[in-house]
Amino acid sequence: MRKKNFKTILKLVDLKHIIIIFGKKKLKGKNILSKTFNHRLNVALTYNVKPESEAFYADLSPNQTDGTTQIERAIDTFAEWDTRETINALEAALKVFHDVELIEATDEAFIKLKESKPDIVFNIAEGLNGISRESQIPAMLDMLNIPYTGSDALTLGICLDKSRAKEILTYHRIPNAKFFVIDKYQTLSNHALKFPLIIKPVSEGSSKGIFGSSLVKNYDKLNAELERVINEYKQPALIEEYLPGREFTVAVIGNDDEARILPIIEIRYDEFPDDVEHLYSYEAKWILDTKESDFNVFDCPANIDRELEKQIKEIALKTYKVLRCKDWSRIDIRLDKNNVPNIIEVNPLPGIMPDPNENSSFPKAARAAGLDYNQMIQTVLHAAAKRYNLS
Ligand SMILES: Nc1ncnc2c1ncn2[C@@H]1O[C@H](COP(=O)(O)OP(=O)(O)O)[C@@H](O)[C@H]1O
Ligand SMILES: [Mg+2]
Repeated sequence: MRKKNFKTILKLVDLKHIIIIFGKKKLKGKNILSKTFNHRLNVALTYNVKPESEAFYADLSPNQTDGTTQIERAIDTFAEWDTRETINALEAALKVFHDVELIEATDEAFIKLKESKPDIVFNIAEGLNGISRESQIPAMLDMLNIPYTGSDALTLGICLDKSRAKEILTYHRIPNAKFFVIDKYQTLSNHALKFPLIIKPVSEGSSKGIFGSSLVKNYDKLNAELERVINEYKQPALIEEYLPGREFTVAVIGNDDEARILPIIEIRYDEFPDDVEHLYSYEAKWILDTKESDFNVFDCPANIDRELEKQIKEIALKTYKVLRCKDWSRIDIRLDKNNVPNIIEVNPLPGIMPDPNENSSFPKAARAAGLDYNQMIQTVLHAAAKRYNLS
């Protein structure tokens, strides 16, 4: 990729462009991963959709308040939610073999699910509020005794709180960066970790709150970031040692002995513009890496030797197992200074944007395994259906 100056790229990103971003988002021969069904199921799709009309954003004030415009704030707030394009693609994939009903994950979802009583739910809902928001739909479904895809309420809650997930990994001796958590803002002048450090909100996804400035090399910058994260996101800050090595993300599909990793993706930091920190930050994910840009820093399958591939596979599957992930997940991994793979975080509700130009990791890894979008979705549904003896 031609290296570009980051500031030049940023200047090109006007409001219209941002709205456009949010207006959308092989094993050869017979694929051993791809699964089909013998009979049609009644499937409900639970989701949260990003507000993406121009009118929604036009109504917001573009005035600066605390250094952030309302528009930027709204975009940040809904970063984890799915686009209408993703929901449509998912609905189409499910409809190939099943009858599908859409149920938005609002506070009326419980009644709708109770009335509709689907055979199974395909759940991608991020939920509404609070630290357990991703658990809300699965908890309702457990209460109603309705089967669903993906991890249960407990695993979703644990993985959304990155510190809780890291505590479990540490107990199981799975390498992850040394860390501590600060609940309330206080000036730090002493701690046991080694700079450089990375500061992030303890329970966000989609790179929310992670900017180039999140990587700090001294106490002044650390305290400034702590203040920003705690005040802006109204939640504790996770402080971790920085893992300086190569970064990978690994898609996992299936359960128990049938859990498989898809081809490993590497984020090629050697392809980043010179003035961008080596983090898959908010800037990288949502500003540099748009559908229209030629920012292509993903290698899949990653160019790695067999030994590293084996280590990454082992740590990914062990992590999946100890966190009791179900059906699918995407696991972020980075090498430490000794080239040992460490877990960064686990995404039991991975992003699945259908357009290959969006660089969405799970579908990208599936394509490299020979699964098109529809096959990928059917395979996840099949894994869940099998757990409930519905397949
Ligand atoms: N301890 C760390 N060392 C190095 N890079 C990190 C570390 N933690 C996070 N990052 C970088 O920040 C990115 C986003 O962090 P992550 O915890 O995965 O947040 P999100 O949930 O938003 O994806 C990672 O993909 C990685 O590039
Ligand atoms: Mg991540």
